[in-house]
Amino acid sequence: MRKRGVRSVLDVATGTGYHSVQLIEGGFDTVSADGSAEMLAQAFDNGVRYGGHILRVVQADWRWLNRDVHGEYDAIVCLGNSFTHLFEERDRRKALAEFYAMLKHDGVLILDQRNYDTMLDRGFSSKHTYYYGGEDVAVEPEHLDEGLCRMRYTFPDDSVYHLNMFPLRKDYTRRLMSEVGFQQIDTYGDFQHTYRDTEPDFFVHVAEKAYVANDEEKGYSAAVTTARSYYNSSDADTFYASVWGGEDIHVGLYERPDEPIPEASRRTVERMAGKLQLSRGSTVLDLGSGYGGSARYLAETYGCRMLALNLSEVENERNRALNAERGLTGAIEVVDGSFENIPYPDNSVDVVWSQDAFLHSGNREKVLDEVARVLRPGGQLIFTDPMATDGTPKAKLQPILERIHLDTMGSPGFYHDQLTRLGFNEGPDGGFEEHREQLPAHYGRVLEETKRQETNGLAEKVSSDYLDRMKTGLGNWVHGGKEGHLTWGIFHYVR
Ligand SMILES: C[S@@+](CC[C@H](N)C(=O)[O-])C[C@H]1O[C@@H](n2cnc3c(N)ncnc32)[C@H](O)[C@@H]1O
Repeated sequence: MRKRGVRSVLDVATGTGYHSVQLIEGGFDTVSADGSAEMLAQAFDNGVRYGGHILRVVQADWRWLNRDVHGEYDAIVCLGNSFTHLFEERDRRKALAEFYAMLKHDGVLILDQRNYDTMLDRGFSSKHTYYYGGEDVAVEPEHLDEGLCRMRYTFPDDSVYHLNMFPLRKDYTRRLMSEVGFQQIDTYGDFQHTYRDTEPDFFVHVAEKAYVANDEEKGYSAAVTTARSYYNSSDADTFYASVWGGEDIHVGLYERPDEPIPEASRRTVERMAGKLQLSRGSTVLDLGSGYGGSARYLAETYGCRMLALNLSEVENERNRALNAERGLTGAIEVVDGSFENIPYPDNSVDVVWSQDAFLHSGNREKVLDEVARVLRPGGQLIFTDPMATDGTPKAKLQPILERIHLDTMGSPGFYHDQLTRLGFNEGPDGGFEEHREQLPAHYGRVLEETKRQETNGLAEKVSSDYLDRMKTGLGNWVHGGKEGHLTWGIFHYVR
């Protein structure tokens, strides 16, 4: 907060006053609110007792915060797992909207919560590192489901207390925050920016009110901005992690129609890698690297130095965490950015690699110009992309184009012409290895898996709107593929 120049802070969950006292001692102009008059009386006493501070206390219910508390604040803090006490979704939305309204135009909301995802998915455990009731207090859940977490606190004198809480899933909280208007939300795990989802006891969300209009955002084009917000959304993130396995998001090479998606997806990576002469010293730039499954494979199998450039910061966070888990942080550089503007110098990489990402660009000519620029002479380009077959009338592609918010798709002829224009030569296998039938096979498998998982818990984690749109979209890909309007395959060219 100090780094951001915060001066005024509203502590909306004052409780016993712990954070308010710390904030006052840190020099922040602090107002302390709470819904409970008893807690405020206690907080006031604690303020006097610990440092002689006179707390400015206000009794206020979050749902009517703007009625009872006045002014605008640089920061609002809602700490100590307090937001968990709201049981109605409409109350949670209203409270967040009230917080948003009480912030200055560039203010920040800092809200923490227990890591309920891990409790719900894997059972309760605690490292007791940051939040802790004391050596002698035993804390455990007595009841836990998606709607209620009832915790039992047993004290040394055998007295027992219970607390009912709503088990907020991390991405659900993030989604509510973005729905009330917060655009940029960073979530820390036990105060670390990079973490494994299952590890932290607590998450801290830092949500920014500052609004950035689309066209100002990092200079990205409209198509790039659309792709970024899609892949950054918690729905997409949860969907790809659950349905596709969280490593790869690309068309697989199926040997059997019912093969698991991750196996077929891995086969694509192996097939592509087999076309290259990769070695320990090779620098490979993966454009649109997603969660980085291919980068990890190439780094582990060939010892390449990987540069993973990807638009979605949410995916990149997951990518970095997975790399850390596998001891690959030093081998893979994960960079936030767009392949329409590659942040690397001319002639700096040996191989440009990309899977199913160029379709998201509104300017594929520019992407290929950039590829030619960063690739060293003699360097290799290998990529896959879902495309239109040459000669398909645009009207046939319309349902698909509408869903990906684009006016055009690539085609084998388009890529061949562009690469020839840029002076590339076809690789030894003739430049393009077509696997047209794999496209409907793959999207058909994903559709099946989506439907299966929808009835097995996915519907609770991903919004029904998203799932409906996804199923329609997948259906369009399958239909277009079977009708022969779409194709997919591996391009291999040499500069
Ligand atoms: C279908 S996913 C493929 C991810 C990865 N290549 C894989 O095979 O697992 C498409 C990816 O392209 C990325 N992307 C889309 N537009 C991009 C752009 N302009 N620059 C960089 N990455 C982009 C998205 O963030 C997303 O991860």
